[in-house]
Amino acid sequence: MPTPIPEPILEALIEAAHRARQNAHAPYSQYLVGAAVWANQQIFAGCNVENAAYPVGICAERGALAAAVAHGATAIDALVIVAQDAASPCGMCRQAIAEFGPRIPVCLVSATDGTRIHTDMGTLLPMQFSLSTAPP
Ligand code: THU
Repeated sequence: MPTPIPEPILEALIEAAHRARQNAHAPYSQYLVGAAVWANQQIFAGCNVENAAYPVGICAERGALAAAVAHGATAIDALVIVAQDAASPCGMCRQAIAEFGPRIPVCLVSATDGTRIHTDMGTLLPMQFSLSTAPP
């Protein structure tokens, strides 16, 4: 069972992710994503930013993560993702987020019908790659 995200924080994260999603730059896929993390008692949000050179685009989750880290907020205690269908994060984002905690609670939210799926990084990315477990 994932550690529950405290209710007021969860609602604030969902609101922030919804707002960020409205700013998504997704002219190629039309697939809008917003994400928000709770880090060092603050909210940092991100959205997907696509590019005409497709691989240059970045996902919402890594945008939110980068914003938090840029502010020195690396104690990440929760992640919320809002997409049309309560989408699960891509593999690259899973590895990026798990860097900051293998058990971070995650809530996947549907912007269409409000469905909320509660999970955590341990479920989304078991046996993550980590240098700390590598031999010296
Ligand atoms: N996308 C995200 O923002 N997060 C994910 O975890 C998966 C996909 C974005 C990338 C692209 O802009 C659009 O969704 C369609 O793949």
